[in-house]
Amino acid sequence: MGYHSFSLLASFLLLSLATTAFSSTLSPYYYYKTCPQALPTIRRVVEDAVRQERRMGASLLRLHFHDCFVQGCDASILLDKTSTIDSEKTAPANNNSARGFEVIDRIKSEVDKACGCPVVSCADILAVAARDSVVALGGPTWNVQLGRRDSTTASRTKAEKDLPSPLMDLPALIKNFKNKGLDAKDLVALSGGHSIGLHSVLPSENIFTNNPTSTLLLPVIAILDARITMGSQT
Ligand code: HEM
Repeated sequence: MGYHSFSLLASFLLLSLATTAFSSTLSPYYYYKTCPQALPTIRRVVEDAVRQERRMGASLLRLHFHDCFVQGCDASILLDKTSTIDSEKTAPANNNSARGFEVIDRIKSEVDKACGCPVVSCADILAVAARDSVVALGGPTWNVQLGRRDSTTASRTKAEKDLPSPLMDLPALIKNFKNKGLDAKDLVALSGGHSIGLHSVLPSENIFTNNPTSTLLLPVIAILDARITMGSQT
């Protein structure tokens, strides 16, 4: 396994652990006894969704990331606005760009049917769907630690504060990740997530280039900057 694949996998593990609200023991085998069909069912629905639209794999990966950075990996991103729930869906980083909710709904319904009861958390579904999406698009695989609990609350305010903005410069991005227990190498490795999916063009100047640019360039520039800052490790 190459250095970059290893870094990416290690960073995903850290992302999940650093930002997770979980039951006492997380384990890749958490549903082994209670619902052995859970993981194959998630994989089947993800593969089907990616077959229909390849971009969906990228959207599901981003959904997991945006879930984990706000209150931990607790599926709070899935909650709609009610009188007591401050939905994260309308925060600037999610509004009109977070997608894949209908695929997660479909997975949840098929998993509940396969298990015979609602034993699998939506937070675990998001984490496994992200991994299966990357694999379905030809990327590497990793073990997903399972046993996360779903939140009954969400926070638009935290989503606004905690999700990184494309207008942040490298020190701000490093600080943003540090707040979640992740270091600069994790930032660089996880920014590799932008090698899949679609990105809109920013209407205003981008802080990295002083030119209007696709956000696709952002991680590449961040990686170059990080190499200069930390010394090349290619
Ligand atoms: C480092 C800070 C990050 C910033 C500032 C950032 C920002 C963005 C922005 C602005 C978009 C375009 C959204 C749109 O136009 O609809 C995007 C897309 C995307 N991001 Fe990030 N992102 C960051 C980190 C990450 C991480 C850590 C991952 C996953 C490991 C990730 C995965 C993705 C994916 C897969 C897409 C494409 C989604 C799609 O096609 O639906 N991003 N990101």
